[in-house]
Amino acid sequence: MNFNQAKKTFEHILNNMSKESRTDFLMWLTDYLQNSEKINDLSIQSTNEDMILESIRDEIQEILPVTATTNTETILVPKVGPNADCDPDITVHVDAFLYDEKGIDHLVDQGKLNRNFCTRCGSQDVQPLNFISHSTSIKQIKYIFQYLLPDLSNKTILDIGSRTGGVLYGAFLYSNSRKITGVEIDSSFCELQRTIIDKYNMNDRIQVIEDDIFNQGQLASESDIIVFHNVFDFFLPISDQERMWRFVRNTFRRKGTIIISIPSLEDMVSHLQTDIDLDTWVTCLNDPDLLNLANIHLYGSVDNEDSDLADLFMYQVIG
Ligand SMILES: C[S@@+](CC[C@H](N)C(=O)[O-])C[C@H]1O[C@@H](n2cnc3c(N)ncnc32)[C@H](O)[C@@H]1O
Repeated sequence: MNFNQAKKTFEHILNNMSKESRTDFLMWLTDYLQNSEKINDLSIQSTNEDMILESIRDEIQEILPVTATTNTETILVPKVGPNADCDPDITVHVDAFLYDEKGIDHLVDQGKLNRNFCTRCGSQDVQPLNFISHSTSIKQIKYIFQYLLPDLSNKTILDIGSRTGGVLYGAFLYSNSRKITGVEIDSSFCELQRTIIDKYNMNDRIQVIEDDIFNQGQLASESDIIVFHNVFDFFLPISDQERMWRFVRNTFRRKGTIIISIPSLEDMVSHLQTDIDLDTWVTCLNDPDLLNLANIHLYGSVDNEDSDLADLFMYQVIG
């Protein structure tokens, strides 16, 4: 039974109950959902696909430094917009595909990472460091392919700026999409992705193109699902970002195309001069019930403070 069928069945049960039974039933359900043991049972069931993705993650952890940045890329500190607070002196790059909260704790225990910085040397007057990730976490990947997106038979997926490749491997493992393409401008990350794709025999459905997305307009305009995780903010000066966003707006215009974005499109463009009118371009498909359900399954409760699922947005192109 998929989510929509389960939702309909649930509504059917409620609508066919007497008022008294419904109250008893809802009280029982509340108790059941608050019983973390049962929910944790749901969230910790690992599938074969989960284990493959975790094995890929572990392998990449061995290859990349803790910051998961490469010598061939230049990271720029945003001066405006939602990430303008990322002062390099107090910001740490921690890749969310490679390290979840448990993984970060482990790094801290090993002395490879600090969570805080001292504001007055030698004192205990400490402040938390800013953590910034340039990758989608494993739980976000599962949310995209197991909750947000419909059946993807015959559909094509494009991850713009595919970096460590987590979205590509997740699309391969958790969806039946026909073709999955990553376009990445950094040569070291392309090499890394190809190594993993070869090793895990994913070549039949995944391809990696080393290029600037600006040169891949046709591919982008033909793709059914486009994953767009803050592609330009840390990598291009403002004037180039604005040029790229105009390109994106003109290229992703096929009606029905789905865009998965982190963070929202609004957060990414509102501080730029682009003339993009989101209301005439896309409609947002986010469903709060689905987010709650995914949070319960993946994080054990609707309001787990570690959850990063609310950072994800799904849109459909309308014009
Ligand atoms: C925030 S990361 C997204 C990583 C990945 N999509 C994910 O969700 O895990 C953005 C990536 O876009 C790449 N990038 C930046 N500008 C690009 C461009 N013009 N064309 C292709 N890739 C680009 C960067 O090198 C970086 O690896």
